[in-house]
Amino acid sequence: MMQKLYIKTYGCQMNVYDSDRMQDLMIATGYEITESPKGADMAIINTCHIRQKASEKLFSDLGRLRPFKEEKRANGQDMIVAVAGCVAQAEGEEIFKRSNLVDIIVGPESYQTLPDLVGKVKREKSKQINLDFVPDNKFDNLVANKKGVGFSSFVTVQEGCDKFCTFCVVPYTRGAEYSRPVSEVLDEVKRVVERGAVEIYLLGQNVNAYHGADKDGKNCSLANLIRQIAEIDEVKRIRYTTSHPRDMSDDLIKAHGEVEKLMPFLHLPIQSGANNILKAMNRKHTRQDYFKIIEKLRKSCPEIGLSSDFIVGFPGETEQDFLDTIDLVEKIGFAQCYSFKYSPREGTPASDKDIQIAEEIKDERLAKLQNLLTKQQIEFNKKFEGKIIPVLFEKEAPKSKNSSTKQILGKSPALQSVIVEVRDGENLENYYGKIKDVKIAKSRPSSLIGEI
Ligand code: 5AD
Ligand code: SF4
Repeated sequence: MMQKLYIKTYGCQMNVYDSDRMQDLMIATGYEITESPKGADMAIINTCHIRQKASEKLFSDLGRLRPFKEEKRANGQDMIVAVAGCVAQAEGEEIFKRSNLVDIIVGPESYQTLPDLVGKVKREKSKQINLDFVPDNKFDNLVANKKGVGFSSFVTVQEGCDKFCTFCVVPYTRGAEYSRPVSEVLDEVKRVVERGAVEIYLLGQNVNAYHGADKDGKNCSLANLIRQIAEIDEVKRIRYTTSHPRDMSDDLIKAHGEVEKLMPFLHLPIQSGANNILKAMNRKHTRQDYFKIIEKLRKSCPEIGLSSDFIVGFPGETEQDFLDTIDLVEKIGFAQCYSFKYSPREGTPASDKDIQIAEEIKDERLAKLQNLLTKQQIEFNKKFEGKIIPVLFEKEAPKSKNSSTKQILGKSPALQSVIVEVRDGENLENYYGKIKDVKIAKSRPSSLIGEI
């Protein structure tokens, strides 16, 4: 009998990629995936530590798993509970102390050892923890025969961060910057392409700092890597995230104008529009640097859709600093953005500053900023009305499942969700993994509606 594995994933795309890899590893040892924790023989919670709310979810999730674990035990079986990801790395042994439910704690740079840890838990009936940083070995030991590849497939090319922004836990939870060698990345791309992927989404906490070794041992830039991936026929689209303004090199900007398969969309977090806040954040770039990059990008690729992350209420942020952020947003015009209230993370330099901003002020600033960003997103989407754009279809639209008229969901070059109605009786499968021209009839705040 196959053992059942339940995985819950929080956080960024890297965590989604890591959960897929843990899934591959466990499938290779005789597990199959289940969508519900009920009856599961193992549960993995892959956690995110980036903001307070994200890490609090772990303990309420563990609480929800308890009855399922107890039910298994009442039947003379067990559910192995593993906590993975950045909360595991940051909190370590503390998690065992706070919840007696947990059997395994495994960090994001050591999850390739998960099958061993599970074996030990079963044999020795003891709790297991591994928080080592061994990125080199990590990728070597991952299982090659990846199952369940989507039409758009993540491929991690870089991990970790050496930048130490003063608000961020990533350098502590994911460790130092590491780039996978070019040949290893190309092998993985070919593998997922063989299994049906047409879009390659390159991942890294600082993806544009990529400098993996090529076959001569020389450093290869992200732009160069993208050009090599673009030569693989079956790859139709390439994206990458997340980039840092400091590493937005001219060759990468040029690639946006020259490599057709590189999609016209860029997520380039600035965090704040005020230079003194950027300095206090240790961002190592100014708002003027950002404007210059955007100007060059738009020259290279005029239709590029831009996205950013913003933090409001960083320690010491004045009303004027906040207005500088609003001004920057107004001047640039974004396609979509993420914005957050500053959340003090233990162990990071900004967290113990005695100039923390009151919660009500953070709420007020966040609401104002999000208002403006939503307005810009609506305007950005509106510009597509009446246009014909190529859409990569991936699956049935969520609402279509309970409706008689069938709709499929795809992605535009600028990463908008596009919904298209399909004629009665047509096989939806015929569309998945295909890129088709769609005429956009209507735009909504977070999607486009069109017809083929
Ligand atoms: N508080 C609020 N937002 C944060 N981010 C990272 N750390 C914090 C924090 N301590 C945001 C940044 C980053 C995104 C992934 O999360 O905007 O780019
Ligand atoms: Fe965190 Fe800054 Fe590194 Fe991004 S660049 S992961 S925000 S420390």
